[in-house]
Amino acid sequence: MAVNFQGLLVVTFWVVSVNLLCSARAQEFGVSVPENVAVGETIFSLPGTRAGEKAELPCAKIEGDPYGRFNVTKNCTIVVANPLDWSVQSTYLLTIRSGVHNTRVKVELSDVEGYPPVYNETCETPVNPNGQTGDLLYSINFALEVGKYGFLCHKTCICKNGARCHGFNGACKCPPGWKGVSCDIPKQDVSITTTPSDPRDIYISANITLHCEVHHVDVGYLTVTVPNKSNKVSFGINKTVFHVPNIQPTNNGPYTCQVRDTRGNTLNTTFVLNVTNCAPDTKGARCDEVCGCLQGASCDRWAGCVCPPGWTGTRCQRKCPHGTYGKDCARKCTCQNWATCDPNDGRCECQAGWYGMDCSKPCKDGRFGWRCQQFCACKNSAVCSNVHGSCACVTPWTGPDCDQLQTSRDEPLLESLVPLGSLVLLVAIVMAILYKTGILACSTPDTAEEDKILFELRRMEQDLAQSLQPGWLGRWEKKIKHLTPGPLIGEGMFGLVRKGKLRTPEGELAVAAKTVRVEDSQSYRDFYREAAILVAVHQQRDGDCRESNIVRLVGLITKSAEKYILLEYAPKGDLLGFLRRSGNINEKDLFGNLLGYAVHIARALQELERLRIAHRDVAARNVLITADDVAKLADFGLARDVYAANQYIRANRPGVDELLPLKWMALESIETGEYTCQSDVWSFGVLLWEIATLGKDPCYDGRMQLSFLQMVGILRQGIRLERPPGCPEDLYRLMRSCWRDVPDTRPTPEGIEERLLQLRHALLPHDVIEMETVV
Ligand SMILES: *[C@@H]1O[C@H](CO)[C@@H](O)[C@H](O)[C@H]1NC(C)=O
Ligand SMILES: *[C@@H]1O[C@H](CO)[C@@H](O)[C@H](O)[C@H]1NC(C)=O
Ligand SMILES: *[C@@H]1O[C@H](CO)[C@@H](O)[C@H](O)[C@H]1NC(C)=O
Ligand SMILES: *[C@@H]1O[C@H](CO)[C@@H](O)[C@H](O)[C@H]1NC(C)=O
Ligand SMILES: *[C@@H]1O[C@H](CO)[C@@H](O)[C@H](O)[C@H]1NC(C)=O
Ligand SMILES: *[C@@H]1O[C@H](CO)[C@@H](O)[C@H](O)[C@H]1NC(C)=O
Ligand SMILES: *[C@@H]1O[C@H](CO)[C@@H](O)[C@H](O)[C@H]1NC(C)=O
Ligand SMILES: *[C@@H]1O[C@H](CO)[C@@H](O)[C@H](O)[C@H]1NC(C)=O
Repeated sequence: MAVNFQGLLVVTFWVVSVNLLCSARAQEFGVSVPENVAVGETIFSLPGTRAGEKAELPCAKIEGDPYGRFNVTKNCTIVVANPLDWSVQSTYLLTIRSGVHNTRVKVELSDVEGYPPVYNETCETPVNPNGQTGDLLYSINFALEVGKYGFLCHKTCICKNGARCHGFNGACKCPPGWKGVSCDIPKQDVSITTTPSDPRDIYISANITLHCEVHHVDVGYLTVTVPNKSNKVSFGINKTVFHVPNIQPTNNGPYTCQVRDTRGNTLNTTFVLNVTNCAPDTKGARCDEVCGCLQGASCDRWAGCVCPPGWTGTRCQRKCPHGTYGKDCARKCTCQNWATCDPNDGRCECQAGWYGMDCSKPCKDGRFGWRCQQFCACKNSAVCSNVHGSCACVTPWTGPDCDQLQTSRDEPLLESLVPLGSLVLLVAIVMAILYKTGILACSTPDTAEEDKILFELRRMEQDLAQSLQPGWLGRWEKKIKHLTPGPLIGEGMFGLVRKGKLRTPEGELAVAAKTVRVEDSQSYRDFYREAAILVAVHQQRDGDCRESNIVRLVGLITKSAEKYILLEYAPKGDLLGFLRRSGNINEKDLFGNLLGYAVHIARALQELERLRIAHRDVAARNVLITADDVAKLADFGLARDVYAANQYIRANRPGVDELLPLKWMALESIETGEYTCQSDVWSFGVLLWEIATLGKDPCYDGRMQLSFLQMVGILRQGIRLERPPGCPEDLYRLMRSCWRDVPDTRPTPEGIEERLLQLRHALLPHDVIEMETVV
């Protein structure tokens, strides 16, 4: 691994032998240094036995260092002048003139693991082929700050001779003819390069040119051999070009350049041409048919257009036929009751009167219509149609709402009904008293309550409600008497969080207990929304919570006056506090932990995406760090202001009165109140920004305080958070891509995870990553 090697330099001296017999009195010394010794470091100083001589006749290097790795100062110290590399040369025998004598110093390098850094092309920041500066996620101009590298672009590249410097670890990619850590040592070499240089641009009927070049060799003659074994020989030149026009499969095969130097040694290199693809948008055996794919589909030489899920046809011009969806329309829709099926993901859009994942459940509990959003008006035990809310009366009732009596001959019926009505009333009163006095209050799972909450949720979020199964509340219910509340760890206007202990059959468990302080309808809804999301997440994972990046639910207490959500206790607190406390951590920790936390949250977003639930408040303050250093997403809506009151702004929109995290919100969420997994991705971009600034408060257009309308105006103009000082361009591009206007063009949580892992992989030594990914 690459370590900070200043201070680690171990120099050992020993006198190998002192040859007293020889009249020249050549002295020999040995010194051993690690290969990563810093340039400028003194590695040897001639012992001062002959200080007088040193003063009279200054020291000088005579031989043993053809490529200038060392400087010898006048007073006989050896200083490293250029980067060393054990794999290029591990021993140097230097001869130094000191005074009237010659001194031999043997410098032995030791191999340092992980040095020099590897130029990993997989993790290379790709070059934007068109040189555009548009914000395509992966089209990143290489090394934006020329000659700099590292997470904060504050380290200087040492690459010479036109070598490319890796943006993350500073490794050099040597051009042909050079070797060494900084590509400054000549290498005898023969190379083949092609134009166009990008293999993707080499396709059937393209024209290419092979350039054969010889480096640091006295050329005798140069031979180019082509696949049909014919060759071309040139004498005394170090460079030759070879054109292959209108490439056909018969041109495929090895192209070899062989050089013989003036002393009879040979060197060769081979380039294998393997062209099998047609030019973009063409197909067929002769690549002469046009694809013309729609929907951004790619064109395969033999298969034609490869359609994205939900599309079919030779040019992907048709949506999947009714009842099918997915890639190649190969999957069957499961939607029932005339629901339409999304051709892309098979999701059902229920018709009025039906709900559930496959729209198989009719509206219940006196509701009807689209998304069961309307209330039946049917009276007197009439059956209400789940589709249009019409009432099927039972005799003797009639009328549209079944609240009129049949005005017919059976007068006496009315009389007999009166006592019946009073009896029902009496029973209701007795029940109410029993309930109030607590006799019925603690009855086992209160399904009526659960259904009520479910309907409330369904009004807010259909998908969330669909993820829950009957009895969801009861299954997580814990007893208040088993909870011992402890110190307050967060407090706000709507709720508070205490550390507490919960008695369980397995022993006592440290928990964070969240509770609603004021019983207003908003906080009541938030409470159940959070409870429902956590239950849904845990149900989906079937109780296996080890790998989830969503805070673990321990239980719920809903049957007491004070309602609690019990969560795992995270001793390291929230990410925002962590960031703000880590003002001067070193860079390694920055990469290791902080981007690692971002990866964890990207995974949490994937979990929510699978459930089609939006978090609505992804921000550093809502991420908790567990004892094992895992970041977990928390705070699904309760106690908005528990952690940072000034980060929420009161909405000033008709009919909306809530505190909103404006500076974290996606444009569409601010404008229309719409929250989706893509709007969470926007907020995630702001979270990345918080990480890159170590917890600064987001600041748009130089202003900290912004009203609702100002915020919309600023975002509509395309203004976004600025690149934090020192933030790598790659990371900032990832943020910018999260803040695109059109939600569908933002990256997916999965894509974000992949991108972050790439960024991180290039920054960190591999062993650390292995450990982290296991977690
Ligand atoms: C040799 O000279 C350099 C400056 O040129 C000085 O830094 C170093 O301490 C000197 N070393 C000895 C052993 O005198
Ligand atoms: C080595 O010597 C050269 C020429 O005298 C000088 O330019 C260079 O800065 C020296 N390097 C170090 C590390 O002292
Ligand atoms: C380069 O990175 C990729 C993926 O990150 C990895 O699989 C590969 O082993 C790395 N190569 C080297 C030489 O480190
Ligand atoms: C290859 O070169 C020929 C002749 O110079 C030209 O007509 C043809 O268009 C070129 N092909 C491509 C793909 O550029
Ligand atoms: C090729 O030879 C010429 C002189 O004949 C020389 O100037 C040039 O640097 C050499 N190129 C390489 C790559 O060695
Ligand atoms: C071999 O291929 C080269 C060009 O690729 C061509 O000029 C030459 O005529 C071919 N020779 C034979 C024997 O086919
Ligand atoms: C190229 O060199 C390798 C050894 O480096 C040798 O095995 C091989 O036969 C050579 N190829 C040709 C075509 O000369
Ligand atoms: C050429 O590439 C194809 C895949 O693109 C591969 O299957 C084939 O083996 C390659 N042929 C040679 C000669 O490398």
